[in-house]
Amino acid sequence: MTTFPEFLTAKRTVEDRALNRRVWEQFVTELAERAGGSDPVRIVEIGSGTGSMIARLADWEALPPTVSYRAVDLDAETVDSARKRLPERLRAAGYTVDEQSDPIRARRTDSDGTERTIEIGLETGDGFAIDDAADAVIAAAVLDLVDLQPAVEDLKGVLGDNGLLYAPVTFNGHTSFIPRDPVDDRIERLYHRHMDEVRAQPGSSRAGQQLLKELPAAGYTVLEAGGADWIVRPTDSAYSAAESAVLEHLLETIDGALADYPADVIEPETRADWIERRRGQLERGELTLVAHHLDVLARL
Ligand SMILES: C[S@@+](CC[C@H](N)C(=O)[O-])C[C@H]1O[C@@H](n2cnc3c(N)ncnc32)[C@H](O)[C@@H]1O
Repeated sequence: MTTFPEFLTAKRTVEDRALNRRVWEQFVTELAERAGGSDPVRIVEIGSGTGSMIARLADWEALPPTVSYRAVDLDAETVDSARKRLPERLRAAGYTVDEQSDPIRARRTDSDGTERTIEIGLETGDGFAIDDAADAVIAAAVLDLVDLQPAVEDLKGVLGDNGLLYAPVTFNGHTSFIPRDPVDDRIERLYHRHMDEVRAQPGSSRAGQQLLKELPAAGYTVLEAGGADWIVRPTDSAYSAAESAVLEHLLETIDGALADYPADVIEPETRADWIERRRGQLERGELTLVAHHLDVLARL
């Protein structure tokens, strides 16, 4: 059984590969254009999980020199995990970290003498209910878990004038495995229907493309958008880094979703056999996953 923080940590390398570089580059350019005054560039991340995006932005040298970063997540366990893991990841990116301070303070001097500072506040709470005046809001792999229309309205209370919304890894309607299995199409359909109609949590299996409609309707300008597909595949029957945990967690999630249907929609035996075949392929290093997401960058 993979814990949720373990899953979030394991998917970081999958998303390092998947993130759409066109959308990323434009986000980084727009962020840089908001730097230069006496105030730090203010970033709010909603659904920040274990802190993968903060670590990536630091590691990929994508942040302006002075940044205030407010990371908000509903789940206290993932916020705790971020607090524990982030200092080490920031040190790996060359920062000196004062982890006793709250917010966490990280500093670095570049080889050209540029002084960099990131102040990171980690909070547990509903990120769509906060007030702020951020230069940028990041919501990575989050907007497929909420009601989009009210969410993009709520974000207007988090963003300042001209603020950016970067929403990478927004799920968009495709989950498939290799090798193909005779019941795959049915299982994919039921898994996606579960996101749309069955689970208690809101959200949508086509949130990525819906975002492209909802943002302009709410007064945002979409600056860039592009595909960001998770592809997890073995090489020589082994998965890189901890990526088998991503597959394990996804199989558990699909199994849990299918279990919510009555037997006349999917027979328990069909579900159990499918999961068993997929777990066997995972153990033998034979399973490949393709899952489709959109990365979207917009300005208010
Ligand atoms: C799929 S995870 C993605 C986490 C992280 N962004 C990443 O990509 O590793 C979604 C996260 O959003 C958080 N979340 C969902 N709704 C939220 C809300 N209303 N406010 C803050 N966090 C929320 C969940 O607790 C979870 O940690």
